[in-house]
Amino acid sequence: MSDYIVEMDSIFKTFPGVNALDNVSFNLRAGEVMALLGENGAGKSTLMKVLCGVYQRDSGTVKIFGTPVENLDPTQAQGMGVAMIHQELNMCTHLTVAQNIFLGREITRGGRLDERAMRQRAREILARLNIEIDPDTVLGDISVSKQQMVEIAKALSANAKILVMDEPTSALTAKEIDDLFAIIRKLRAEGCGIVYISHRLDELKHIVDRVTIMRDGHFITRTNFADTSMDQIISNMVGREITEKFPHVQCERGAKILTVRNLNAGKMVRHIDLDLYAGEIVALAGLMGAGRTEITRAIFGIDPKDGGEITLDGKVIQINRPEDSIRHGVVLVPEDRKKDGLCTRLSIRENIALPNLDIICDRTGVVNRRREREMVTKTVESLSVKLSGPEMNAGNLSGGNQQKVVVGKWLARTSRVVIFDEPTRGIDVAAKVEIYHLMNDLKRQGIGVLYVSSEMPEVLGMADRILVVCEGRITGELTATEATQEKILELAVRFESKLERGVA
Ligand SMILES: Nc1ncnc2c1ncn2[C@@H]1O[C@H](COP(=O)(O)OP(=O)(O)OP(=O)(O)O)[C@@H](O)[C@H]1O
Ligand SMILES: [Mg+2]
Repeated sequence: MSDYIVEMDSIFKTFPGVNALDNVSFNLRAGEVMALLGENGAGKSTLMKVLCGVYQRDSGTVKIFGTPVENLDPTQAQGMGVAMIHQELNMCTHLTVAQNIFLGREITRGGRLDERAMRQRAREILARLNIEIDPDTVLGDISVSKQQMVEIAKALSANAKILVMDEPTSALTAKEIDDLFAIIRKLRAEGCGIVYISHRLDELKHIVDRVTIMRDGHFITRTNFADTSMDQIISNMVGREITEKFPHVQCERGAKILTVRNLNAGKMVRHIDLDLYAGEIVALAGLMGAGRTEITRAIFGIDPKDGGEITLDGKVIQINRPEDSIRHGVVLVPEDRKKDGLCTRLSIRENIALPNLDIICDRTGVVNRRREREMVTKTVESLSVKLSGPEMNAGNLSGGNQQKVVVGKWLARTSRVVIFDEPTRGIDVAAKVEIYHLMNDLKRQGIGVLYVSSEMPEVLGMADRILVVCEGRITGELTATEATQEKILELAVRFESKLERGVA
């Protein structure tokens, strides 16, 4: 037997209209972390779903621990020690943490569910991972990041020896990412083989031993991480050099577009004052959970306001619901694409058309198909969405391409202010640059751009002004020239020490 615990050779897989995998090979050793990299739609998730029995390959060979496998289904794969933490979390939010961990593998006693044993086991596994969550908590009541941790616990409870993590850090805080890396190192030391998929290339150096790179469904290269460079990795992923990762443009600051005065909404939005001018991009920086998303939701009218005034182009406007906001030309590209941004069962065309029906319908309220087609084509092309056609189910797009549709549908209409919440989450390096160019275009057109980002390089690289948020308040403002990572972090933890002492 070779020392590979996974060997995949000449794998082909097509979906209607797409060659998702075209002669791909892959391998993994025990006790290593293999990064699987590639642009959005390259086929990473598909390849791993073939390994986990979620998809059946069209042809090719797969060996797990040296044993050739045919017609693998997810239960068999699990039985062989393969577990996958999926890109889009798919757990039951109405069940408890313990119930989720043991879903499908419930512990029974005398033909009945042994809730106590499951709770106890769940507690042990969570403790092993250093996660403080009560196993009885209903999953939907905890943050997405904690849910992600529960998903990892679930994989470990199944004694996985081959663990696939598909973008595990996209919703985690810096501290949680550190915890996750500690877990990964521990599992590696215990002999687990780990496949690590991520678009956050700067994390690779902390944990990765080897990298496999795919492009457009093809295998490109496989190498030791130590023998390659970030530039090489990127050019292998994209097929060309990317010279400018943050294409910042300087514009003349114009008139004031939006002002927010003393905005309060619930616990997480406290006395917010902010101004947005034409010709600038403003970032809301801060730690995960600081209240940045809540600020954007309150402005946009999703969450009720407890008070405050919003002025657009010098006129006070009332925003009580998102419809009001959209009517005034203030749009929000939300953070959680699956929940708030996309109708996964509708087509790409329908997703783009939906918020823009006012533009594409004629006066009698009937959809003008030509206008609709033009809008869809333009949106899809300007963001290079990788799709088999506009009628494709939006849910079948790769994760990053779904994000592009969420962004694109709002850019299809003329707006005064565009608010982006984590616009590049899960998006590959090249597409990130495309989104930055779009933000720049908006800026040049004199549209106000406000964005939330947890990625420090992105905050520093694209913003003209940075507002730092901590515990629902704006704790400081920095211009692009004076801002540094240290200064932002200092403002971002302004109340943290008090919180720890329970003063809040
Ligand atoms: N169930 C499906 N039906 C139709 N097409 C699919 C399906 N699943 C994946 N595809 C297509 O296969 C291709 C590869 O998708 P995949 O999800 O593997 O990409 P990825 O590398 O994981 O991208 P990302 O980084 O955006 O997650 C894409 O073109 C995608 O649209
Ligand atoms: Mg994917």
